[in-house]
Amino acid sequence: MTGRVAVVGSFNVDHVWVAASLPRPGETLAGDYRSGPGGKGFNQAIAAARAGAPTDFICALGDDAGGALARALAHDDGIALHDMRSDAPTGTAGIFVGEAGGNSIVIGPGANAALTPAFVDAQRAVIARAAVVVVQLESPLDAITQALRIARGAGAVRVLNPAPANVAVPAELLALADVITPNETEFAALLDAHAGERIDATAIAALGDDTLHALCRRLLPHGTVVVTLGAAGCFVSHGARRVSEAEHARVPGERADAIDTTGAGDAFNGALAASIALGPGCSLNEQLRFANRYAALSTERAGAAVAMPTAAQVQARFGD
Ligand code: RIB
Ligand code: NA
Repeated sequence: MTGRVAVVGSFNVDHVWVAASLPRPGETLAGDYRSGPGGKGFNQAIAAARAGAPTDFICALGDDAGGALARALAHDDGIALHDMRSDAPTGTAGIFVGEAGGNSIVIGPGANAALTPAFVDAQRAVIARAAVVVVQLESPLDAITQALRIARGAGAVRVLNPAPANVAVPAELLALADVITPNETEFAALLDAHAGERIDATAIAALGDDTLHALCRRLLPHGTVVVTLGAAGCFVSHGARRVSEAEHARVPGERADAIDTTGAGDAFNGALAASIALGPGCSLNEQLRFANRYAALSTERAGAAVAMPTAAQVQARFGD
């Protein structure tokens, strides 16, 4: 079985400063600088490919060095790239990495903001041949909505990673998803917007399983909600379309020596998508366990896209 993954999303050139702590407002720190490929879409495509799935990546790039970098790296990882050429510069991100590998990010969307529904529509055949289609919120909402509409028509599994948290998710986009993968902050934002529930993000992980399950059911009555909990792993709640397993479960995370958590959520999403595409015989809880391990290992490596491990490296690190 060689199910393909199609990711529709962003590519950024990440400019990263690593210091002993994150800078407070008004503070100046000295640290190390590096730059490398990133963007939630690209990170997830790299993760899916390195986790073993044949992968397509649909995005918008500028006609500049950043765009050339994306093309070269996609080629190196065997990713089929379908890029819309924009007059705007390739997307960028300024990232501060501080203690325990935690980070703060500002993105400059650039070309990512130019991705159109028409270009996505022109990639209809690419999306329709995928077993799993993954989108995030760093690309225009009309473009990613079009991608999920095509995926629905083709019967693909539709994964919405609702990141970053400050982008409001329209009800239509949410309803198009089979699986959503919010972190605690994103989950709190979705509950506020779509279920009329105001819960502090820091209180989410401590909620009882039955309470979490009930909240997930209100958010996505038909589908699967995976709330990622950082080092604690994730909580999964199944809707009516997934009746073969327990209704909900916690899938514990792996202990990792994190030095850079940038892209850990992307690692999780890409690995999960690959695992669903490659292993329909395997239970979702096993796929989530793999995604947790994959993300944990990515935090032990510096960078975003370049930190994504291979499936063999995950097995060597964590065993079976
Ligand atoms: O999720 C991490 C990513 O967010 C970084 O690579 C950066 O480009 C931003 O998109
Ligand atoms: Na990393």
